[in-house]
Amino acid sequence: MSDTGLVLKDVYRIFPGDVTAVSDVNLEIANGEYVVFLGPSGCGKTTTLRIIAGHDEPSSGTVTIDGELMNGVSPAKRPITTVFQHYALFPHKSVLNNVAFGLKMQGVDKAERETQAKAAIELVGLTKFMDRKPRELSGGQQQRVALARVLVTRPKAILLDEPLGGLDRLLQMKMRVELRALQRELGITFIHVTHNQEEALSMADRIVVMGDAIVQQVGTPEHLARHPRNEFVASFMGDNNVFHGTVSGSNGGNVIIDTDYGKVEVEGSAASGSTASMAIRAAAVKISTDAAPATNGVRVRLDFAEYLGDSVKLHMDLDGKPFIAKVPEDRYAEVRALEGKDVTATWAAEDGHLLEQ
Ligand SMILES: Nc1ncnc2c1ncn2[C@@H]1O[C@H](COP(=O)(O)OP(=O)(O)OP(=O)(O)O)[C@@H](O)[C@H]1O
Ligand SMILES: [Mg+2]
Repeated sequence: MSDTGLVLKDVYRIFPGDVTAVSDVNLEIANGEYVVFLGPSGCGKTTTLRIIAGHDEPSSGTVTIDGELMNGVSPAKRPITTVFQHYALFPHKSVLNNVAFGLKMQGVDKAERETQAKAAIELVGLTKFMDRKPRELSGGQQQRVALARVLVTRPKAILLDEPLGGLDRLLQMKMRVELRALQRELGITFIHVTHNQEEALSMADRIVVMGDAIVQQVGTPEHLARHPRNEFVASFMGDNNVFHGTVSGSNGGNVIIDTDYGKVEVEGSAASGSTASMAIRAAAVKISTDAAPATNGVRVRLDFAEYLGDSVKLHMDLDGKPFIAKVPEDRYAEVRALEGKDVTATWAAEDGHLLEQ
C-alpha cells in the first residue's frame, strides 16, 4: 500500500440506530489527483468527506495522510480543508478580510496575513474585488472567495462538498473549468462530491462511484463510461441500456444470454443456466429501418429525438421499458422524421459489456 497521499482503509461509519452510512471503504488517493465522489443522495458521500476532514470519526478503519494516522486528529490539525456546500462568508467583512480571517485565528501577524490573503485572492482572480463585501459579488465570485479562504491555509488537499450545487447551469460550466484549472495550477489534491454524473465525468481524474454506503467502482471517467462493473454503475452513469437474462451458451469468446427481448451476445464467459446481465452504451447503438437481426437487435418505438447540439439522444420504448441511443447531430432531420415509428436498434457484440451479478 502506498504511504503517500490519502489512504482510507476498511472504513466503516455506523450511526446509532444501526444506520450504516459508510461500509468497507478502501481508497488510495495520490497527491495532486482530482477525485470526484459520485453517487445518489444518502449513499455516504458527505459522511466519507467528513471522516477524511476529521469532522467525524470512522466507527472502524483508518485514515492516513502521507503515511501519518489521522484518526483522532482534529480537523484544524489535518493538512486538509473543506469548502462546504453552504460556505458562510462573513457578510460585513471585505473579501480581503474574509480570506485573511483564518490566518488571524492562527496568529499570523497583520502584514503577513494581507500578503498571503492577497496572493490567494489573486489565484482565484478576484484582485479587483478585494474591498467588496460578499453581497456585492455574484454567486460564482462568492464561491471563489470561499475557495480563496481555504487556499490561504495552504492545505495538502481540499475537500469540496457539492461546490457547484447552488449555481445556475452556465455558471456551473464556467466554474468546472475554473476549478480544474486552479487545481492543476496548485498541484494539490481536490476531492469533490457531487451527485451529477456530467460534472463528475467532465472534471475528475478518477471517479469514485458510491451507492448503498459502499464504493461501487473506481476509475477514470472514460473507463467508467465504457466499462461499468455492475448494474448500479451502468444505470447511475447514465446512457446505458441494461438487459437481464439467462446464459444459454457460448460462441467463441462470447456468451449468449436469452433475454425477454431476444438473444444477446456479449464478450465474456458465464456458466450455462446462470443469470446474467449486460450493458450497452447509448452511443454504441445503431438505429435503422431494417428488420431486427436474431441477436443483438431489438424493435423499439422511437418516441422522441432530443437535440443536444453535438449529438441527438433518442428516447425509445422497448415493450414499455425505456431504451436510449445517441446518434450524430447531422442525423437529426432523419431521426426526427422517425418519431412515433418502430425502428430497429442494433449493436456489435464487442460494444456490449457483461456486468457482475
Ligand atoms: N449524524 C447522523 N446520524 C444518523 N444518520 C446519519 C447521520 N449523518 C448521516 N446519516 C445517514 O447516513 C447516510 C449517508 O448520509 P450522507 O450525508 O453521507 O449522504 P450523501 O451521499 O452525502 O447524500 P446527499 O447527496 O443527499 O448529500 C444517510 O442515510 C443519512 O441519513
Ligand atoms: Mg451530502
